[in-house]
Amino acid sequence: MQIGVPKEIKSAEKRVAATPAGVRALVAHGHKVFVEKDAGLGSGFRNEEYARAGAIILENAQDVWAEAEMIMKVKEPIGPELEWMRPGQVIFTYLHLAANRELTEKLLKKKVVGIAYETVQLEDGSLPLLSPMSEVAGRLSVQMGAYCLEAQNGGMGILLSGISGVRPARVTVIGGGVVGYSAAVIAVGMGAQVSILDNNPLRLRYLEDISDFRMVTIMSNPANIEEECVNSHLVIGSVLIPGARAPKLITRDIVKQMMPGSAIVDVAIDQGGCCETSHPTIHEDPTFIVEDVVHYCVANMPGAVPRTSTIALTNVTLAYGLEIADNGYEKALATDPALRKGLNVLNGQVCYPAVAEAFDLPCVDITF
Ligand SMILES: NC(=O)c1ccc[n+]([C@@H]2O[C@H](COP(=O)([O-])OP(=O)(O)OC[C@H]3O[C@@H](n4cnc5c(N)ncnc54)[C@H](O)[C@@H]3O)[C@@H](O)[C@H]2O)c1
Repeated sequence: MQIGVPKEIKSAEKRVAATPAGVRALVAHGHKVFVEKDAGLGSGFRNEEYARAGAIILENAQDVWAEAEMIMKVKEPIGPELEWMRPGQVIFTYLHLAANRELTEKLLKKKVVGIAYETVQLEDGSLPLLSPMSEVAGRLSVQMGAYCLEAQNGGMGILLSGISGVRPARVTVIGGGVVGYSAAVIAVGMGAQVSILDNNPLRLRYLEDISDFRMVTIMSNPANIEEECVNSHLVIGSVLIPGARAPKLITRDIVKQMMPGSAIVDVAIDQGGCCETSHPTIHEDPTFIVEDVVHYCVANMPGAVPRTSTIALTNVTLAYGLEIADNGYEKALATDPALRKGLNVLNGQVCYPAVAEAFDLPCVDITF
């Protein structure tokens, strides 16, 4: 198959859909890979590395789109990319269509095969192409929290780990899923005293079992949330109710009671945030202070570490990309139920229920 890897053009997006190692694997399977010049630079991968891996480097994006039977990207197509798509072309990327009517209509009109990373789903309900970004955000959240607690950033000037003779900081994580667990592990590793709250007793038991008594697991309810937040130096918000806006578990009243100079990292901000005083911020200006509490609310945290994020993303997308390339999309979708869940649009029809529902369109159940 001919596969295209264009440079991302969405503002501040530095990730790329394939590393040189990924290109090498695709080429070893007999595929031709067209990489746009400088596509990997934002993640620290040079053109020569792609060329050595067997990629054909093309000067301009339009040529990459014209050559490719499958485009592998990171973000949804935007701007001129929308015009370069053609019928039957596979677009394998994050699409988030339910939140974007214009893009959905464009993909339908262009009759492309839209397979969305975020809806590829395993039998146990997990989302294998989303979870690496949650791991990145979770781990990064503690680093960012530590930054917020520094005096020059408005924080109370406390070191998470403490030192000999000085207490470490208290960290509370609300939501013990992929983000929350990743955050808690790093906070424990940095020497903080960590509590983690979830409203799913099975999840709490699992966290208790694997944490070896290094973090305290607590049932999430309004009283416990208030008590933990008020007594913590750093609070990390990482709840998710799939398909819904994040619940406002940390009220303004709780924020008012928190210690002056304490910090909240609201990772769930991409779903509206789980703190009443949060609003989305950007990497260039990531924090603000409300009620004397430093807030960090960047909605695309993995963007701060594009190299790690690119490698993490391509570690999980490559196997699916290979499946599509080796077998053709029809056979790949027919034989892999997880990948089948990723199919959002095909031949001008919506095939994913949540997208159809969002725009009141028919959902077509295609059998291959
Ligand atoms: N800001 C970013 O850059 C970024 C990056 C990745 C993920 N996220 C966001 O982080 C959030 C968490 O993602 P995830 O992958 O960890 O999801 P997840 O599904 O793995 O975990 C969510 C957890 O929240 C728990 N939960 C639900 N309601 C709760 C409540 N009332 N109290 C306590 N816990 C509750 C669930 O039981 C689950 O364990 C999502 O909103 C996701 O979109 C943000």
